[in-house]
Amino acid sequence: MKILFISSEVAPFSKTGGLGDVAGALPAALAALGHDVKVVTPRYASIRDARIQPTGHTVVLRFPFGEERGAVLSVRLSERHEVLFLENAHYFERGGIYGDAHGEFGDNHRRFAYLSMGALQAAQRLHFIPDIVHLNDWQTGLAAVALRRGFQGTPLERSRAVFTIHNLAYQGQFGKDIMGELGLPWDLFTSDDGLEFHDTVNFLKAGLVFSDAITTVSPTYAKEIQTPELGCNLDGLLRRHQGRLSGILNGIDAEEWNPEKDPVLPARYRLDDMAGKAVCKRELLQRSGLPPGDAPVFGIVSRLAYQKGVDLLLDVMPTALQADIRFVAVGSGEGHYEEGLRALQERFPQQVAVYLGFDRELSHLVEAGADFFLMPSRYEPCGLNQMYSLRYGTVPIVRATGGLVDTVEGGLDGNGILFEAFHRAALLAAIRRGLALYADPPRLEAFRHRGMKRDFSWATSARRYEGLFHSLLKS
Ligand code: ADP
Ligand code: GLC
Repeated sequence: MKILFISSEVAPFSKTGGLGDVAGALPAALAALGHDVKVVTPRYASIRDARIQPTGHTVVLRFPFGEERGAVLSVRLSERHEVLFLENAHYFERGGIYGDAHGEFGDNHRRFAYLSMGALQAAQRLHFIPDIVHLNDWQTGLAAVALRRGFQGTPLERSRAVFTIHNLAYQGQFGKDIMGELGLPWDLFTSDDGLEFHDTVNFLKAGLVFSDAITTVSPTYAKEIQTPELGCNLDGLLRRHQGRLSGILNGIDAEEWNPEKDPVLPARYRLDDMAGKAVCKRELLQRSGLPPGDAPVFGIVSRLAYQKGVDLLLDVMPTALQADIRFVAVGSGEGHYEEGLRALQERFPQQVAVYLGFDRELSHLVEAGADFFLMPSRYEPCGLNQMYSLRYGTVPIVRATGGLVDTVEGGLDGNGILFEAFHRAALLAAIRRGLALYADPPRLEAFRHRGMKRDFSWATSARRYEGLFHSLLKS
């Protein structure tokens, strides 16, 4: 079948988090199953890849405020997998994907309306009539509306839309004046089956309401978002639509995240020859400016956001660091968390190393060189890092929420450590369980082995999406 996949970030071209990883890997896995996949994403200023070539096509969108246009560029990644980039100098050629040091960009509604509608038009111009239009997160919500309202009488009218929620907390809410600004018909501004959400326009809701199926990135999160606790005020709507909501666990790019082949690492390793992992640990300590030694290393690589429980971590670390442990953090995000981590490093310079920023290579080295990987998330739609950790023989210590529950196995013969309550005592106890495990090398090795043996590659999940797509085409 033909699949048009729209995403505001696509690794390796652009990425702020797991969405980029998924938009890089899932289309490749679907293409490997024999489907024709075109991924559409903005051409941000940061994207410099000599393989990207003009297609000769241009997107032209007429909004009440004026005409917006831009070239469509392309790179073919395999016979059936192509990434299309929408150019627009004034929307995308700036220093940031969603915002910059001053905060979120004020015209994100225009930028992502351009992506959503421009992607459909680009497909049309290229005579690519998708069976499935696969949308991802609020940035693409308006494409579901456009598909139903703007393409009647065209071949795209028959395309089915699937909307995947990667994170329900980010909804793309804007003042209702943008209805007129973007030329959206006011009859869409209703609360039950329209774009209205507490008197604002909600792009995510648009995607949920106007698509044919809704998925989220793990089975547990699919259940959690139907509860008031994690439903971000959309739980009622999701319960009403539960018949077309399902959870499909993300996979990982098994090529990029492979300790046997990873070119970033100083040494490679595998299940039956783990010596390289110790070399990675030494290198991580050295690069972090920490003294060498056998003490267990705890790592995090994370967006520094409320979701990730960085505050809880900052709360327990001074106590946890009374034991002889090391802590290496790689992250960027909210200023107060960055300051908290910096202060922790200043207080424990022999034990804590903090890198504030986005660094792909360092993220691989932490996964390989750490003994434990911490994810004390408040909520976690799927989470990829814990799967990378398991593959790299690094034991994840995670809160029992969302996709973390679906991937990390607790218990005496599990592959990781889970804790329930979002509370300092629970996290501290989990870290102490980690220390006990570390003090028992045969048991630690067994944990590592079980993690490394689990198959998280995309093939299984891509088949699930394929099954869903087929069922929609039959209906
Ligand atoms: P989320 O999408 O909520 O941020 P995920 O666990 O799904 O969480 O994915 C996060 C992705 O972003 C992983 O690939 C992780 O390695 C990467 N990442 C996050 N922060 C950084 C950083 N500071 N440097 C490098 N990679 C990062
Ligand atoms: C979101 C979620 C994360 C998930 C990722 C990819 O950013 O926060 O849990 O793994 O999307 O689906």
